[in-house]
Amino acid sequence: AASKVIFSGIQPTGTPHLGNYLGALYNWVQLQKSTDATIYYSIVDLHAITMPQNPATLRQAKIDMAKSLLACGIDPKRSVLFEQSKVKEHAELQWIFNCITPVGWLSRMTQWKSKLGTNTSSTHSQSLSDETLTTGLKMGLLDYPVLQAADILLYKATHVPVGEDQLQHLELTRDVATLFNKTFKTRLFPLPEAIVPPATKRIMSLRQPGSKMSKSDPSDQSRINLTDSPDEVQSKIARAQTDGIRGITFDPVNRPGVANLLSIQAELEGRTIEQVVEDFKSVQSNKELKDRVTEVIVEALKPIQAEMRRLDAGYVQQVLNDGADKARSVASENLHSCFKAIGL
Ligand code: ADP
Ligand code: NA
Repeated sequence: AASKVIFSGIQPTGTPHLGNYLGALYNWVQLQKSTDATIYYSIVDLHAITMPQNPATLRQAKIDMAKSLLACGIDPKRSVLFEQSKVKEHAELQWIFNCITPVGWLSRMTQWKSKLGTNTSSTHSQSLSDETLTTGLKMGLLDYPVLQAADILLYKATHVPVGEDQLQHLELTRDVATLFNKTFKTRLFPLPEAIVPPATKRIMSLRQPGSKMSKSDPSDQSRINLTDSPDEVQSKIARAQTDGIRGITFDPVNRPGVANLLSIQAELEGRTIEQVVEDFKSVQSNKELKDRVTEVIVEALKPIQAEMRRLDAGYVQQVLNDGADKARSVASENLHSCFKAIGL
């Protein structure tokens, strides 16, 4: 059987939050030990520019994200860590896929449709007005699932750690691979499978526990950032939305705030929800739960923050450059096979 190859990407949003850590990064680190797969982790800056970016901020955000990944335990000797834009083959393979992928496959993507729903600007009649420069739906936003397909298939990845929200895009990747293989009568691309984290790893907003903890939430109080000081953690958790019901029970539907705190604690301690709930059997108020969760988060962040302080930007950039060199050698070979199949 072909050997196992893992690919996953993360956008350069600067410092990750606790949701990114428990839902993605922690699993990325574990995969380094639990499999013998070849592993690629990419900071997907070409995806980031589907939305307007400030150049200096973007540059810094890439370094900060890479530093966070290393601090969380991504080992550059075990995993190939690199910036997507430094391996040009990603964009080249995307173009190949653009030429076989029906537009309809993209316009029916739920994420695209939700973006369509919020967009107000319409025509290109004012050609290069200020509005055209900053707003309006860009081609890249429609097309980014094809870039994702290229990211994954460029390394012939067989397994892709993804969040629930990305399953539709991975399905598209499989469809593109199948379409390519059929069109050019080849077996070049494997059909990659998802590695989906369990639902308890989905961390909710501290302020509105009905929605997920996210970088795009304007309130910084809604999330714990991996760089938060003990005081910041304490004050955010103390103000986290819970409820007035006495006793501690795990009930994500009726008590989402309490359930979220229990999930965070269970995940960070590597215990089951049942075990954690058992600890609070005789507890009546949420205060003890909040104190305990604060303590567990502060402890979990300590070694990560110490490592972030230790790593300097020069070293991080060197790791990324070395990673890009390794990624490029595989990418160029696979792209070459792809060109040959097409007649390029
Ligand atoms: P954000 O919503 O903060 O922009 P991304 O969409 O960039 O986060 O997600 C990066 C990775 O982190 C993905 O694998 C995603 O599934 C995971 N992730 C993001 N938010 C959460 C969360 N609240 N709980 C669990 N996993 C999350
Ligand atoms: Na997001």
